[in-house]
Amino acid sequence: MSSFICKITAMAMRELSEPSRDRDNDKEVWVKHYSSNHQMLLVGEGDFSFSCSLATRFGSASNICASSLDSYDEVVKKYKKAKSNLQILKRLGAILLHGVDATKLQLHPDLNRRRYDRVIFNFPHAGFHGKESDPYLIQKHRKLVSGFFHGASHMLRDTGEIHVSHKNKAPFCHWNLEELARRCSLVLIQRVAFEKRDYPGNENKRGDGSRCDQPFPLGDCNTFRFHVAKELYTEKAKSREAKERESKHRRRQERFLECSHRVNRVSSEIHNGELGRVLPRARTSSPHRHTEEPPPKRRCLLCQDFEVHQACQEPFPKRSHRVNGVFMGFIKCKDEKC
Ligand SMILES: C[S@@+](CC[C@H](N)C(=O)[O-])C[C@H]1O[C@@H](n2cnc3c(N)ncnc32)[C@H](O)[C@@H]1O
Repeated sequence: MSSFICKITAMAMRELSEPSRDRDNDKEVWVKHYSSNHQMLLVGEGDFSFSCSLATRFGSASNICASSLDSYDEVVKKYKKAKSNLQILKRLGAILLHGVDATKLQLHPDLNRRRYDRVIFNFPHAGFHGKESDPYLIQKHRKLVSGFFHGASHMLRDTGEIHVSHKNKAPFCHWNLEELARRCSLVLIQRVAFEKRDYPGNENKRGDGSRCDQPFPLGDCNTFRFHVAKELYTEKAKSREAKERESKHRRRQERFLECSHRVNRVSSEIHNGELGRVLPRARTSSPHRHTEEPPPKRRCLLCQDFEVHQACQEPFPKRSHRVNGVFMGFIKCKDEKC
């Protein structure tokens, strides 16, 4: 009897020491907006406690790719719980990446070909470089979020979403996430309160400076859920194509104008009797011009007699004969009747 109790106790202890795993492996587990069936990418993680919280609840992290800007060494040095969180994630099958710049996701060789149901950046922040209300710093934060939106918007599955958790109070609301998102064809689906208690074990971190491992006051904050607006995307693609067409057309016109200017210049030089001066300097396929050999003669098309004026034996720009008839004017047969 006592050995039976011991066995039960050992089993219970093992259960407790393991992250809770759903008994039915196929059963979908939901934690707020996140399902164990979602392919998820997390960027800008601090001590990896958010990913770890989700993975523990899912009982698996095979659907999670969690990343930090910091290297592994930096992460474990900065956050005292990072090492154990990373160990749990690894054991549960997560893909863990370090040195991932959220503004360059589309360039990352391990990420750029994958598609996700959720791409998450909780409390993006470009670092403590002065007062948060400083326009320069706001611009720096906006650049970070904007770069993230740009890359992440290309990594979503059809019904995929980008989530950013962010404070609502000024000056943070001046970042204007919705405007930044719209520029990347993303629209807000929902703005929902971010409650720390929904993610047991999650600890929001300052992430920078000497107090990087400390939490910051969350206060009033939301998770902003965005998705790609197909209409906006198509509209943008169309206007981009129209712009490209227009600039191609403009370039072609410029080339044409340049060409006809050149031809006009040549023809007026011919008119001014300056051909002799121009031609020897110009690149020509008629070597006799430079060697002073007598030019090969051509037949007049009408009377088959010689000799056609020298000038017409020079290679002309393709369309020169169309300009003012100047080219034709120089073809002069010796025969008066011709
Ligand atoms: C306020 S902390 C939040 C950390 C964590 N997401 C959390 O909720 O506790 C801001 C985080 O943004 C990260 N970060 C800043 N610039 C980044 C970038 N270009 N790419 C990825 N992460 C960045 C920092 O490393 C830091 O971990």
